[in-house]
Amino acid sequence: MSDVLERLPRAEAAGYDSLRTEQNRVVSCSEGTRMEVLQKIQEWASRDDESGEQIFWLSGLAGIGKSTIAMSVAKWASSNNILGASFFFARDVAELSDAASVFTTLAWQLAQHDSQYKRALYEKLRCDSDITSKTLATQFQGLVESPLSGLDRKRPIVVVLDALDECSSETDVKELLRIFLGMRTSKGVRLRILITSRPEPHIRFMFSTSMGTSLSKFVLHDIDDNLAREDIRTFFVAEFAKFPSRDLPRLPADWPPPEEFDKLLDGCGKFFAYAATAVRFI
Ligand SMILES: Nc1ncnc2c1ncn2[C@@H]1O[C@H](COP(=O)(O)OP(=O)(O)OP(=O)(O)O)[C@@H](O)[C@H]1O
Ligand SMILES: [Mg+2]
Repeated sequence: MSDVLERLPRAEAAGYDSLRTEQNRVVSCSEGTRMEVLQKIQEWASRDDESGEQIFWLSGLAGIGKSTIAMSVAKWASSNNILGASFFFARDVAELSDAASVFTTLAWQLAQHDSQYKRALYEKLRCDSDITSKTLATQFQGLVESPLSGLDRKRPIVVVLDALDECSSETDVKELLRIFLGMRTSKGVRLRILITSRPEPHIRFMFSTSMGTSLSKFVLHDIDDNLAREDIRTFFVAEFAKFPSRDLPRLPADWPPPEEFDKLLDGCGKFFAYAATAVRFI
């Protein structure tokens, strides 16, 4: 069985725990930050009733903190043994910006996660070895939807897809969304797909026209200004506390002075990316 599965063409660097995410400093949320949105996503993902929404779309502007949340959710789901698969798109890596390997990669990871699914996938690949070169819709149906629908499992299966906007072909992105938004896995399977992306027009359009699959949405740049500011303050305090171990000159205990700290927070607005960059430069 392993031989057949190992022949699945897949993007090995796609997972949340790949060397690539580590080298690109895709981190998880600093302790005490993003508590509300993480709780919301975790509650959504943990719902084990059949009527739970299958898709959660977390959108937000560049650098606001989506991938960091996706990483936290993937780690949380993995530690609770409900992470079925994760795919972190990356525009600068060929196989991670191409929709061609999405379903084969998800299938391979799902097979590592669930042995019943693995057997069903194996049967599919044995009868239809060409499936990996078929259309995205056929791949989804054969590699994901059909093997999942035979499962007898109450626990949710979480799938994290980060940065869908970094998939290079708009046509493929629309097709992926059309497939996810129209999927019909059997009622018994609690599939929970977290999709993060910038609010690009083609992605917004697809979500706005969704009629089939039930959907939860969260816009990260719409959160309350003060909430974002306090999260970024928490991040700075944690990072400043690490300075002594970074071999930097010792800072006075009351550094930065409150008015300087406020200016720093004003400069960041809601954007964690500015805060992370500032920490690297201080
Ligand atoms: N909750 C957080 N705790 C600690 N650091 C964070 C947090 N959120 C974001 N960051 C830092 O801010 C930077 C930008 O965040 P992130 O990459 O998650 O943004 P993004 O919304 O995914 O941006 P893009 O649309 O460009 O992919 C990250 O490198 C990370 O270091
Ligand atoms: Mg990102």
